[in-house]
Amino acid sequence: MNKKEEVKEFEPKILAFTCNWSSYSSADQAGISRTSYPPNVQIIRVMCSGRVDPLYVVDAFLNGADGVLIAACHPNYCRYNGGNRYAESRVKFLKMLMEEIGVEPTRLRIEWISALEGRRFVEVVQEMVDELRKLGALLEKNDWRESV
Ligand code: FES
Repeated sequence: MNKKEEVKEFEPKILAFTCNWSSYSSADQAGISRTSYPPNVQIIRVMCSGRVDPLYVVDAFLNGADGVLIAACHPNYCRYNGGNRYAESRVKFLKMLMEEIGVEPTRLRIEWISALEGRRFVEVVQEMVDELRKLGALLEKNDWRESV
């Protein structure tokens, strides 16, 4: 390898489902306050974290996401009767399944992030990028897909 050639760092792909009433605005707020966050994250706005079907998460992983973030309203602030608690239960269940088939559960994360917590959103995304860089790409370890 030529000395001038740089070893390119693995850039993980993160899919973030963000609640319209809180976390989506926090990502927006981060942008408005010019707090930059890694470009590794692609955001999908949902009306409530409770709308994130577990199959969306599985689909994200099967289609190239290295990590999935569900960013939700804080407990007791969900507008749809505890949708965030349903989301939390689903994440727990999915993490168990992931462990069972040999996928690191830390690739999936749920966080409570209010509309005013732009900085928190940036921190969470950065933490995920750092963690996923250590873990490496998910699809390169494709033996787990045979168990799905
Ligand atoms: Fe935000 Fe339910 S309305 S998580």
